Amino acid sequence: MNAIEIDFGTPRRESAREVTVTIDGQAVTVAEGTSLMRAAAEAGIKVPKLCATDSLEPFGSCRLCLVEIDGRRGYPASCTTPAESGMNVRTQSPKLADVRRGVMELYISDHPLDCLTCAANGDCELQTQAGVVGLRNVRYGFDGANHLKDKKDESNPYFTYDPSKCIVCNRCVRACEETQGTFALTISGRGFGSRVSAGMSETFLDSECVSCGACVQACPTATLQEKSIIEMGQPEHSVTTTCAYCGVGCGFKAEMQGTQVVRMTPWKDGKANEGHSCVKGRFAWGYATHKDRVTKPMIRAKITDPWREVSWDEAIGYAAGEFKRIQAEHGQGAVGGITSSRCTNEETYLVQKLVRAAFGNNNVDTCARVCHSPTGYGLGQTYGTSAGTQTFKSVEHADIIMVIGANPSEAHPVFASRMKRRLREGAQLIVIDPRKIDLISSPHVKAQAHLQLRPGTNVAVINAIAHVVVTEGLVDEAFVAERCEAKSFGQWREFVARPENSPEAMEAISGVPADALRTAARLYATKGKNAAIYYGLGVTEHAQGSTMVIGIANLAMATGNVGREGVGVNPLRGQNNVQGSCDMGSFPHELPGYRHISDSIARAQFDAAWGVTLDAEPGLRIPNMFDAALDGSFLGLYCQGEDIVQSDPDTQHVAAALSAMQCIVVQDLFLNETAKYAHVFLPGSSFLEKDGTFTNAERRISRVTKVMPPMSGVGDWEATVKLSNALGYPMNYTHPSQIMEEIAALTPSFAGVSFEKIERLGSVQWPCNDDTEEAGTSVMHVGGFVRGKGRFIITAYQPSDEKANRRFPLLLTTGRVLSQYNVGAQTRRTPNTAWHAEDRLDLHPHDAEERGIKDGDWVGIVSRAGDTVLRATVTEKMAPGVVYTTFHFPESGANVITTDSSDWATNCPEYKVTAVQVSKVTQPSEWQERYRHFNDAQLRALRDAQVVVPAK
Ligand code: SF4
Ligand code: SF4
Ligand code: SF4
Ligand code: FES
Repeated sequence: MNAIEIDFGTPRRESAREVTVTIDGQAVTVAEGTSLMRAAAEAGIKVPKLCATDSLEPFGSCRLCLVEIDGRRGYPASCTTPAESGMNVRTQSPKLADVRRGVMELYISDHPLDCLTCAANGDCELQTQAGVVGLRNVRYGFDGANHLKDKKDESNPYFTYDPSKCIVCNRCVRACEETQGTFALTISGRGFGSRVSAGMSETFLDSECVSCGACVQACPTATLQEKSIIEMGQPEHSVTTTCAYCGVGCGFKAEMQGTQVVRMTPWKDGKANEGHSCVKGRFAWGYATHKDRVTKPMIRAKITDPWREVSWDEAIGYAAGEFKRIQAEHGQGAVGGITSSRCTNEETYLVQKLVRAAFGNNNVDTCARVCHSPTGYGLGQTYGTSAGTQTFKSVEHADIIMVIGANPSEAHPVFASRMKRRLREGAQLIVIDPRKIDLISSPHVKAQAHLQLRPGTNVAVINAIAHVVVTEGLVDEAFVAERCEAKSFGQWREFVARPENSPEAMEAISGVPADALRTAARLYATKGKNAAIYYGLGVTEHAQGSTMVIGIANLAMATGNVGREGVGVNPLRGQNNVQGSCDMGSFPHELPGYRHISDSIARAQFDAAWGVTLDAEPGLRIPNMFDAALDGSFLGLYCQGEDIVQSDPDTQHVAAALSAMQCIVVQDLFLNETAKYAHVFLPGSSFLEKDGTFTNAERRISRVTKVMPPMSGVGDWEATVKLSNALGYPMNYTHPSQIMEEIAALTPSFAGVSFEKIERLGSVQWPCNDDTEEAGTSVMHVGGFVRGKGRFIITAYQPSDEKANRRFPLLLTTGRVLSQYNVGAQTRRTPNTAWHAEDRLDLHPHDAEERGIKDGDWVGIVSRAGDTVLRATVTEKMAPGVVYTTFHFPESGANVITTDSSDWATNCPEYKVTAVQVSKVTQPSEWQERYRHFNDAQLRALRDAQVVVPAK
């Protein structure tokens, strides 16, 4: 897994035509368009270079890579010269050596000679190339004009910019443009005076820079350098692993000194990211060893008691005893478990197995309940399986991209960079979102259509688009006839063609002008073009979340945009392993691989493998668990890696439910909000401490690799095994790879998955079995839908119960920011707070003015569920009547306001529509005061535990 990465100098070219050149006497055949530099590298011949690197288009500025070509005058740069058939090229000659030394001499004459104490010593291309060209002295001396005293910019929390070391190779500027798409850097000044500049000569922190690290990665010198390397020195080994933040699932190399991470570098061969990263995965890993980590098991009888640190055996014994007592007194169904999308597939599988086999019920649910459960339902019903249809790379073939209720620049940044690249190449963009998200207008990207709908009216909009498609002859009749059910299509066509679904009728409901709806529909359904849909929680987290997913699936089928590259329906999954936690059977009605618990054949297979008789009745969903807790019939919960108090809606309801339970076991890194209601705390492990797999939004299963031992001494999967054994259901695994073997044996779509294969191929995509390629399936539904014929389902628009009215005249919608992640437990414990240190309420200037609110004022937000206080940001990004906040900080109480309104099919909460009133205030809300007292008491209880009882 740790193959040396070769830099071929220029990017790979795709071409059906090949050319053969001779380089240093060696015949080399490459795709047409390949540079001479790359052709040489592919033949194992290294040409000196500085401004070229294979992640960026060649620039031809350093002149170090010159070569001689028979029949050509001068010395062409090999990085910018394409290989042509019959060329005879020399990369080495006395003259070339002379020219290269001259070039290098000039660079070095304006470079500090502090190699021995430089952070990049041993990892600097300038140093290496000076050695390669044989530079021995510098004739110009170091006394002339130079940049050696230029001031460093240390404003970015994670990297420094030292202009004295800059060779103006432009790699950083190109990385920011080509790889990241932010265009934050320029070369300012001319000739000798040219220097890299962030924004309008601002500091990096004040500029548009989003700290993705692409420029740092590209810089061949120590000019842009990670602070961790400056502080700790160069790594001595590296291990390939997968980012534990978002659903993009970027591959990384954890660069190590022993068991200490010194840098995370995006993995060039990682198929989800191809060497790119965002600020979270690249830099925000310090939480893993943060002083707040709780590393000792703890127990307490009541949440008002101080915690007692105990041995693992005592903690597990206490938890098992309590669960058994509760079941004996209140019935088998009085306990359950919640799995987390932050955990690995193997860990999640074990928790659902424990619930089904050791607890003997199906009371297991996952945090996907509150994000993408409607995706599972909607795509399952229409296409036959609940997963995104494409790879991320597939967007490179899309001509029209429709983004619905998603903000990839903030929530799926590495995919956003890929998408923006395609948009800069000319693909057209439709955005359906109540907010003016970054994509609508970013450097060299402009949306052709922005449908700025009222929150809660997605279905009205998708029906209007479908209406245009069927009434204007834009249906792909051949695709529908061949691939879809005739009857359901006929019914759907008749339904959407009705006048009440026309753009003109839907304008009044959605607030989107009819002509904009028509333009978007015509664009999406352009005949002969590839149109791809990407959607997020702005689709699913609605009372009609499942209906909208179905509406999207219908539209893609009707226009023939399923089953090949560049098209499809792609849910952008929020957390790293949302896809996996669903795949692993952590829903109360489904076994691993989405087989219904009432399916007696599937159940029999698990009964035989697990040696139990599974309950055929679906168990409780998370909201049902809360209701049952308040009824007194659900009293014990095993919650692994999920902070339901902060992330689920209607915080006060959740807190009341947890307060009513008798045994809550929380397994986590920190004493999170849920743990403050717990009776047993089992210390969890970070992704750096575990072996396992994550499955990203493209169904890609990648390895998570242990680089340091668990801080608590026990891995997450081992804790579940211990608990199961103590409950009387034996589990006997010695390594997570054995758990994957069991998953593969019991789950047809995973039958070909193994740690060995993932390590050999880098990653695989499910379905992965004997019927697929060795690496699984990249595009779904090619030639036919998983369920056979695609099924259309009628999607009647129903207004949400959450409506703006006189008491609550504004609609609140929630989301994320780039620098923070979900409940913020990890990113709040990193320097990412430099970008986002508090949740704020965004509102339109008109709404602010009406209420006398100015930017930065404290504002109270009241809904029918509760109230909280945040500071205001007045911004034109919002439409009048709509306000927005994030939920990264517990004290903000964003979910104190959100209500119990939820998706009709899956109970996914309607986070995206809450009717609220906003007004200027001067003090925290009553809930915030209560929270402060409760939180102080809980932190005291934790502190006291550490003082009173010494660690064992
Ligand atoms: S860190 Fe990323 S966004 Fe910032 S300047 Fe570098 S490439 Fe651009
Ligand atoms: S900062 Fe680094 S990558 Fe950018 S121009 Fe200077 S040396 Fe090149
Ligand atoms: S895009 Fe997502 S997976 Fe990739 S580095 Fe960022 S947070 Fe991690
Ligand atoms: S590497 Fe070719 S000109 Fe710089």
